[in-house]
Amino acid sequence: MIVDRQGRRFRKLRLSLTAACNYACTYCVADGRRLVAARDELTATAMLRAVELLRDVAGVEALRITGGEPLLSDRLEPFLRGLGTLAFQDISLTTNGQLLAGKLPILRSAGIQRLNVSLDTLDPNAFRKIAKGGDLQTVLSGIEQARRAGMSIKINMVPMRGSNLDQVMPMLAFCVQQGYELRFIELMRMGHLAQHAEVFRAQFVGQRELLELIGERYEFSQAEAPVDSTALRYDISEGGAFGIIANESVPFCRSCSRLRLSSTGWLYGCLSSNRGHFMGDLLALPSDQAHPQLAGLLSRALGDKQDATFTGSALIMKSLGG
Ligand code: 5AD
Repeated sequence: MIVDRQGRRFRKLRLSLTAACNYACTYCVADGRRLVAARDELTATAMLRAVELLRDVAGVEALRITGGEPLLSDRLEPFLRGLGTLAFQDISLTTNGQLLAGKLPILRSAGIQRLNVSLDTLDPNAFRKIAKGGDLQTVLSGIEQARRAGMSIKINMVPMRGSNLDQVMPMLAFCVQQGYELRFIELMRMGHLAQHAEVFRAQFVGQRELLELIGERYEFSQAEAPVDSTALRYDISEGGAFGIIANESVPFCRSCSRLRLSSTGWLYGCLSSNRGHFMGDLLALPSDQAHPQLAGLLSRALGDKQDATFTGSALIMKSLGG
């Protein structure tokens, strides 16, 4: 096992199945242009080999499938079918929900029971302005069908001043009522937001402000969360819970156990680092050769983790694996 001076190791793998996305969210891309097709992405077989190697060499225990938008990829089905043989206990998926209803059968047969759905507003006009693609009703109906299929659902919302801050309370009321856990993600300085500090500062809404806003309507108390969880969790007295991923206000780098693999075969040890470590050319090697080489890449990737706080990155979530 590869462990750093702070005792951190890679326990959770986030795999970006594709960098392509049917949205072009304002916080992700600056020009509103959707990435329809991504290039040089690994085949499903290569991705499965990568996951197997990372399980064996890094000791990864949990897998989250992300993107881009993972449900867009035609590698989803063969990848999920192959995943069965790797015996992962904990497999989850992050999606924007647009294609969710149609993909539910294959997600369920792969044993996926936990979904994170990105949804920043319940207002159709605001939705169009933020996501620049997709359709709100389709997402809501996909989430509803996933719930009926017995999946546990978290909703990710990035609150932004001048955009969807007025949606914090309606989103929370909706999620409490429907039994979804809402997670507020503090806006992160990535991509164009890392380059334009004034745009970031104008839009940023922090943990304290959110708690004040929510406190006007709900009584809540902080709940226990696993040590390497990124979210602060709060139980609402009248039922339900919400979380805040407060990477700016309450950084969690010290207990970070995440490793990211891009759809093109690059490993990233830290969201703040735009240094990738290419494992694509290890995938065809026999294990006795691949293992030591991968161990080298992993210790460099672990060395990329920040000591204490997120410092921003020129890269964007969809290429790193949100
Ligand atoms: N700041 C905060 N959250 C972001 N996401 C993507 N880019 C950013 C950013 N710059 C979120 C998406 C998705 C999750 C995986 O990451 O909304 O829910």
